[in-house]
Amino acid sequence: MRHLLAANWKMHLYPGQARDLLYKLVKHWETYQWDTHQTIIFPPYIYLREAVELVRNSPLSIGAQNGYPGEFGAFTGEISMAQIAACGVRWVLVGHSERRQYFGEVSALLQEKLLDAQRRNLSVVYCIGETLPQRQRGETFAILRQQLVEVLSSGVDWTNLAIAYEPVWAIGTGVNATPAQAQEAHSFIRSVVAELGAPADSIPILYGGSLKPENAREIFQQPDVDGGLVGGASLDAASFIAIASALWG
Ligand code: 13P
Repeated sequence: MRHLLAANWKMHLYPGQARDLLYKLVKHWETYQWDTHQTIIFPPYIYLREAVELVRNSPLSIGAQNGYPGEFGAFTGEISMAQIAACGVRWVLVGHSERRQYFGEVSALLQEKLLDAQRRNLSVVYCIGETLPQRQRGETFAILRQQLVEVLSSGVDWTNLAIAYEPVWAIGTGVNATPAQAQEAHSFIRSVVAELGAPADSIPILYGGSLKPENAREIFQQPDVDGGLVGGASLDAASFIAIASALWG
């Protein structure tokens, strides 16, 4: 099933707020089916274990926003993919533009993270997207191709991978990609992963960047948009539920 919805809470919410929000989502997701309404919540690390408990027996699953390749080691402040997996977490984000931009994460590290995550039985949402100057210079496709090829060129388990197209200029800005811009990028991404040997028709390609209840339906109607990775609007139960309804009706 290609449709997938995800909530990236980033560095937001106090513990009580996180718990309240997740309770509300669990309650609503009781009305959804396991196989057709797959939804991932990416809370801050310190809420992961409680979140895993709260979503037990729900079509929601829990993901980590980041992870370090390997099992154990002297890497103060890091949390390994193996530790994340051992806590019952099912997914991890790799390549989010905020990690690339503010934490200097480059393709070689992202590839290591992605392959190690999959080795530990974590599924990966690999995020890519161009900046505004790159789009203005007409480099969007070249950048997307580079971000795909440099990280997905070998050893990838395509059955445990989703891709998120998140144009950097649309993240947290209130300016979303138009449905046509999203479709154009998504169909290009699908063609590149096909070249890389993926069963491209079964890879979920999610759109992220200022998704809101007001714009979600039109974006989700595009044939190559298989769901969304929602930031700001996922911090409010009603708006995330409205986005879910836009995806699933
Ligand atoms: P916003 O929905 O807040 O623009 O964030 C998108 C995003 O970065 C999700 O990973």
